[in-house]
Amino acid sequence: MRIQEFGIPKPGMRNIKTAVSVFLCLVLFRFLNKPYPIYACIAAIICTKDTIWNSYNASRSRIIGTVIGGLLGGIFLKLIQEFYFFLSFEIIAVSGIILLIYIFNLIDEKDSAALACVVYILLIINFQYSWEVRAPYSYAFERTIETSIGIVISLLVNRYIFPYRIKKKEGERNLYINYKTKLYGLIGDPVEKSLSPDIHNKCFNNNDINAVYLAFNIHKDELSSAIDGIRSLDIKGFNITIPHKVSIIDYLDELDEEAKILGAVNTVKNIDGRLIGYNTDGRGFIELLKEEDFNPKDKKIVVLGAGGASRAITMSLAKEGVSDIIILNRTEDKAIQLKEEIESNFKRVNIETKDLDSFEDIDLIVNTTSVGMYPDTDKIPFDIDKLSDKTVVADIVYKPLKTKFLKKAEERGLKTIGGIGMLINQAILSEEIWLDKEIDKLGIEEDIKNILREENK
Ligand code: ATR
Repeated sequence: MRIQEFGIPKPGMRNIKTAVSVFLCLVLFRFLNKPYPIYACIAAIICTKDTIWNSYNASRSRIIGTVIGGLLGGIFLKLIQEFYFFLSFEIIAVSGIILLIYIFNLIDEKDSAALACVVYILLIINFQYSWEVRAPYSYAFERTIETSIGIVISLLVNRYIFPYRIKKKEGERNLYINYKTKLYGLIGDPVEKSLSPDIHNKCFNNNDINAVYLAFNIHKDELSSAIDGIRSLDIKGFNITIPHKVSIIDYLDELDEEAKILGAVNTVKNIDGRLIGYNTDGRGFIELLKEEDFNPKDKKIVVLGAGGASRAITMSLAKEGVSDIIILNRTEDKAIQLKEEIESNFKRVNIETKDLDSFEDIDLIVNTTSVGMYPDTDKIPFDIDKLSDKTVVADIVYKPLKTKFLKKAEERGLKTIGGIGMLINQAILSEEIWLDKEIDKLGIEEDIKNILREENK
């Protein structure tokens, strides 16, 4: 086992709170001139939990256990004193244990039973073996008070230290897997280079969501059985990547509007076995533009490429109310086909598929082709010099993080938008669909960039 693989363990908030509770018990009892606060310390250790609510639950069962165990211990001490000559100590001791278990089952407080038995047996053993030096009733009373003080201290510590949280370091895993952990995943072929597990697990971690995300390599012949497995294992949601984005539709129960228009799905939500398909690719790009203060409404936009990514982006741009889209593709027929599809869904947008005489009034150009992607990082999909100074240049390629296309645009002083933001946004949107709540992106982008930088070293 290599230590670096697991990182050096750091004390969590619960450890710190436990140490503070024990310290306060020791100081208080020393101040009260009552040494040996063993019961107070045990109570403080056991009752200090990660949240005040869990601490309260532990305290509650401990108080009930201590009080009932202490009371019964007192009664049985009396019995032992009165009937010692007729009954053996062992029989009396075990009768009390049986009675306690019965009482706690009866009042449905099973969590308290073990502690009650401990307090009870300690009292009577202590009496049996050292009764000459200790007054048994005051001993029982003192232990109960001591336990209560420990509990009160742990509750106070939980109450006042709880709001403070140690900030998680970038990339730090804090995964705790238990029976409540939900499973999410990616299905595609291949999936081994995918960054989705990094993004989603980091997101779950940062947002304190008890879930894990795994990548599954599923061959196209196995898609049907994989879907059956998803239903039976109750996988709550999954992403789809190449080559299943279209073929998955045959296995779904419902499609949302965007997925219907695109005829492709990248996100599926499982609601009690009902699988609903979504597509977050286009919205991921639109949100990125808005984050960069670019509102696409009434803008003139050049889209390079006419493949799957281009479809998602052009359709979303049309939906946002852009005025013009110019689709330029190596194979013009595909651009024309995409133009017709957009026009059948969005009537008001003007679409061209041919090179323009002038690109002076273009507000945004976005590369959706794989040109410039690793390993062909020297290639450029469009001549930057054709653009005016006001054009924003975006590239959905994120390997490398800054393509030659973006570098050239930067050299010209143009505003640029890299591809990593779209990748992260589409993932966050998937998570929001699965979990029905807003997900904080925190420092994910920087973390994913670091992974890519490490890969390219
Ligand atoms: P994605 O789902 O990533 O969009 P795709 O559907 O295979 O992938 O689309 C790839 C796009 O990149 C297409 O527009 C493709 O052009 P063609 O339709 O002519 O194939 C474009 N593309 C890929 N390699 C290219 C290259 N070397 N030069 C120009 N365009 C290229």
